[in-house]
Amino acid sequence: GAAELGPYRHYMQKEIFEQPQAIADTLDAVSHITPELFGEKAPQALSEINRVLILACGTSYYAGLTAKYWLEGVARIPTEVEVASEYRYRTSVPDPKTLVVTITQSGETADTLAALKHARSLGMSHTLTICNVATSAMVRECAMAYITRAGVEIGVASTKAFTTQLIGLFLLTLTLAKLRGHLSAEEEARHLKDLRHLPVAVQSVLALEPQIIAWSEEFVPRHNALFLGRGRHYPIALEGALKLKEISYIHAEAYPAGELKHGPLALVTREMPVITVAPNDELLEKLKSNIQEVRARGGELFVFADGDSRMESEPGVRVLRMPEHYGLTSPILHVIPLQLLAYHTACARGTDVDKPRNLAKSVTVE
Ligand code: G6P
Repeated sequence: GAAELGPYRHYMQKEIFEQPQAIADTLDAVSHITPELFGEKAPQALSEINRVLILACGTSYYAGLTAKYWLEGVARIPTEVEVASEYRYRTSVPDPKTLVVTITQSGETADTLAALKHARSLGMSHTLTICNVATSAMVRECAMAYITRAGVEIGVASTKAFTTQLIGLFLLTLTLAKLRGHLSAEEEARHLKDLRHLPVAVQSVLALEPQIIAWSEEFVPRHNALFLGRGRHYPIALEGALKLKEISYIHAEAYPAGELKHGPLALVTREMPVITVAPNDELLEKLKSNIQEVRARGGELFVFADGDSRMESEPGVRVLRMPEHYGLTSPILHVIPLQLLAYHTACARGTDVDKPRNLAKSVTVE
C-alpha cells in the first residue's frame, strides 16, 4: 500500500533508491573470497569445471552478459551466455566440465527452469543459481546457490535485483580467478575494499536524480532512442534500452558503439537521442570518436561520463558526470542513471510504471 512507499511515488523508484542497502546486505556475510560463498558443494564442484554457461531471461540475461566480460577477462574462463528460451530448444555441444549458472530474480521463470533441466539432461551436473528468492524452485533444483539480498522486488522492471546479481557474479568471478591462480592476495583485498565502498558510490549517483529528471523531459516526446556502450558497459546499454522500452513505451535499442557504421548510423537524425555509457576506461578514446560520428549526423547525445574524465558538454552533446571511474565493477554504477532516466521519462509520459502493459513480474508459463 501507499504507506510502504514512504516518500516515493512508485515501487520502482523506491527500489532504485534501495540499491545501496541491497548491495550492502548482499555483501554482508562476505569477509573473504572462498568457494563456500556458493554452498557446501562449491569447493569441489568449482575446482572441476573449465567453462561457464550462463542461462537467463530479460534483465537477468543482461547481468549474465556483463559477467562474461568479468569471467573471461579476470578469471580467464571461457564463458557462454544464452537466453534460456533459445538454449532449451537448440542442439548445443555439451561438456560435463561446465558450470551451468542460472540467473533469476524470482527463481520461478519457466524458460530458465526448463533450460536448467535441459542442461542437466545433457550431462551437466554442476549447477549454480544466482537468485533472490531462497525458497524458489530454482534454488531447490540447483546444486549450488548464491542468494542475493535485494529484498522483495515489486516493480515489474527489475532494478535492485539486477545490481545485486552483478555483485553475486563478480564474487563468482573472483572465486574462480582465485581457484585458477589469477587473483593475488593484494588484488583480493583491493576488490573487497572497492565492493564495500560501492553503496556509498551508488548513493552519490542517486544524488544526480535532479539532473536526470531535467534530461528526461527531453525524452518525453520522442519515439525512438539509441543506447551505446562498449566492452563490459555494452550490456549496460542493452539494459538501459530495455528499461526505457518496458516502462516508457519508447522504442529503444542498444548497440556496441563500434558497430554504429554497420547500421544504426542510418537512423541518426536530429530527432534521435543517443544515450552513451561513457566510463573513463581503456575504450573511452574509441567511444569519443563514435560520439563524433553521431554528432556529425546531427544526432543529439546524452553522455554519462565519469568524474575523472575530461569530457565537457558542447552543443548537441550533453555530459553528466558520475563519480570517478570505478574499474571492473563500474557497470554496477553506470546502470543507475539509466534506471532513473527510464523511470522519470515514464512518469512524465504517465504510464503505469510499476505494472507496464502486457508484462508480468515473473513469467511462470512459456
Ligand atoms: C520478466 C520481468 C523482468 C525479469 C525477467 C526475468 O520479464 O519483467 O524484470 O528480468 O522476467 O525474471 P527472473 O525472475 O528470472 O529474473
